[in-house]
Amino acid sequence: MKRSLMVIGIGAGNPDYVTVQAIKAMNRVSVFFIPNKGTKKTELLRLRRDICERFIENSDYRLVEFDIPERSKYGRYKQNVELWREEVRRIYEKLLTESLAEDEIGAFLVWGDPSLYDGTLSILDTIGSSGTFDLDFEVIPGISSVQALAANHKVPLNRIGESLTIMTARQLSEAFPIDQGNVVVMLDGQGAFRSLDGDINIHWGAYIGTEDEILVSGKVRDVRDDIERIRNSARNEHGWVMDTYLLSKDPKTGGE
Ligand SMILES: C[S@@+](CC[C@H](N)C(=O)[O-])C[C@H]1O[C@@H](n2cnc3c(N)ncnc32)[C@H](O)[C@@H]1O
Repeated sequence: MKRSLMVIGIGAGNPDYVTVQAIKAMNRVSVFFIPNKGTKKTELLRLRRDICERFIENSDYRLVEFDIPERSKYGRYKQNVELWREEVRRIYEKLLTESLAEDEIGAFLVWGDPSLYDGTLSILDTIGSSGTFDLDFEVIPGISSVQALAANHKVPLNRIGESLTIMTARQLSEAFPIDQGNVVVMLDGQGAFRSLDGDINIHWGAYIGTEDEILVSGKVRDVRDDIERIRNSARNEHGWVMDTYLLSKDPKTGGE
């Protein structure tokens, strides 16, 4: 079965982040596969719909919504992700079989950039190598939450000659390589910043790029309580919170 797809990064929150390349790609698509992830998530669904309405010039496309299963939060993280991706792969295969014709182009609108903590490319890769589909897909990059965080705080992600590591909050809790440069932390369900050395600089952002954006920066010791309070109250208000933060230490001064 021949199938053509586009994986389009739509930016992390602000419809103005959608690039000209993404708009051109969206205008070639016949079917948009729109995930419905429950809780957070009506808002994210609405944003994807708004993006289609705003940027697509004709109306001869259709939206096919599908439910995404919840990933288990118990047991081993990596194993859970693999099991979850397997379930999603089966859902994608069903969509490709039942909701996309050979002469049509289908698309997934991926939050932020498809290369960063997103399973779409790996899942399509598995589908392509299984041999069931003759799958042809293009990838359009998007503005990730990492870039949006830096831009909205008006800071670079690294200073001269320094490195940048992007990691999950889970990894941050296990080991913190701050001496090796700068660290961006994503997927923080628990507020892992609370246990950090107070001397570290943090640039924190929630709902970045949206009208609910909140930015806080300073030394961890001065702002961690504020961030925790703001984060909890935002989570209560919206039912979900999505935050990303940059950690860095001041460069060492003087010789030893
Ligand atoms: C599954 S990952 C997807 C990342 C996405 N592909 C990207 O390029 O930003 C979700 C994580 O991205 C971060 N994130 C995405 N959008 C965000 C936003 N608008 N504000 C703050 N953090 C965001 C959060 O750390 C969240 O837990």
